[in-house]
Amino acid sequence: MSDSVTAVPSYDLFAPDVAADPHPLLHRIRAESPLTWVPELDGHLLTRHSDIVAALKDRRLATANLGQGLDRLSQAERDELKPVLRSISLWMGHTNDDDHVRFQQLLKRYFTPATVNGLRPRVRRLTEELLDAVAGAGRMDVVADLAYPLPANVIAEMLGMPTTERERLQAWSRDILAIFTRSDFEQLKQCQRSVLEMQDYLRGLVEQRRAEPREDLLSMFVAAEREGVVTEDEIVANCVLLLFAGHETTANLIANGLVLLFDNPDQFALLKQRRELMPSAVEEMLRCGGPASTVVRVTTEPVEVAGHELPAGRLVYLAMLAGNRDPEVFEDPDKFDITRKPNRHTAFGLGAFYCLGAALARMETDVCFSTLLDRVPDLRPAYETPDLIVNPPLGSRLATVDVTF
Ligand code: HEM
Repeated sequence: MSDSVTAVPSYDLFAPDVAADPHPLLHRIRAESPLTWVPELDGHLLTRHSDIVAALKDRRLATANLGQGLDRLSQAERDELKPVLRSISLWMGHTNDDDHVRFQQLLKRYFTPATVNGLRPRVRRLTEELLDAVAGAGRMDVVADLAYPLPANVIAEMLGMPTTERERLQAWSRDILAIFTRSDFEQLKQCQRSVLEMQDYLRGLVEQRRAEPREDLLSMFVAAEREGVVTEDEIVANCVLLLFAGHETTANLIANGLVLLFDNPDQFALLKQRRELMPSAVEEMLRCGGPASTVVRVTTEPVEVAGHELPAGRLVYLAMLAGNRDPEVFEDPDKFDITRKPNRHTAFGLGAFYCLGAALARMETDVCFSTLLDRVPDLRPAYETPDLIVNPPLGSRLATVDVTF
């Protein structure tokens, strides 16, 4: 074991060309310096699949996904953001172990593959409605017309949010993204405004469910509140989390997945011929285009990470998109291969914080692409290069994906 983690080459993760295509640099870093210090992040970066898996399983590394860069703010600015920081401290996964398990137990039966599969016909119907709306035009922006509204509608329906409010949900979610990225004070203030607005709105719905329970997640939360299992503050904070997590990530997976199919016409043709490959195509979309590019941890005690002893309090960035293209685990890792088996990607994390919505996201993506292939098999790109919004160091999302059919 060595503690000489500073004696490594430095890499420019923030270079403009890196955000658009980080893989060449990540391959280099993985080969040369699997645990590398990134001064701009004030943390270490992990790139090997085996190290990422070990870190995800290690409970001495606590989650630290939120509020990166808050330390760059002044004390007065941080004080102004207290309401949002308090609310987010109630999100499952950011609480202590007991509270985390309490929420997992409360929610997991709503997100099992069996429960989620029961929603398939409804998701199919919603997809068809969205496609009906653009059918006459013969063109659409897949991001705005399908990838965002579909998962947003699904999670809103699961919670019991009326359809009239779903556009606000998308705007709120966009603002909430700021807390996951290196944002400035203005963006964080906007994030706070949206979280507080969303919570006020949700408190009204909670009140309604107390008077008149229904068959939805909000009513389940209200029943648990009556039994003294959760508080109102926890309910609204975690509904914000579910509404946000429930659609922002899946929307990006659908958009990234379609661009991967366009970029690999042989694989697109194969999928059209062999529709039974859809579940394995979704796994390959998750591996190559999984929207969670990094997951952040902090060491809670001195711990060995990738062969180096790190003291307590160190940030460790797990570059999922690098681990998912590690040639030690994935043959020909840059090839998008919808028949890949096994496909042990970590796009949904692993261990105690494994994504609650993994089965839901998989089902939504599967149904979305299956419906697209049924309804518009001649889908073609109507863009020259994908319209990316980059979020350095390693994040990006597609702003639009224009298609014709
Ligand atoms: C493609 C879609 C998705 C991806 C790539 C994704 C990714 C992830 C990842 C990587 C984590 C682990 C974070 C960590 O270890 O720190 C996570 C956790 C989580 N995800 Fe997802 N997610 C997706 C969809 C969803 C959906 C649809 C929902 C909800 C309906 C959801 C709700 C959650 C929640 C609540 C957690 C925290 C779990 C816990 O702390 O126990 N996600 N997700």
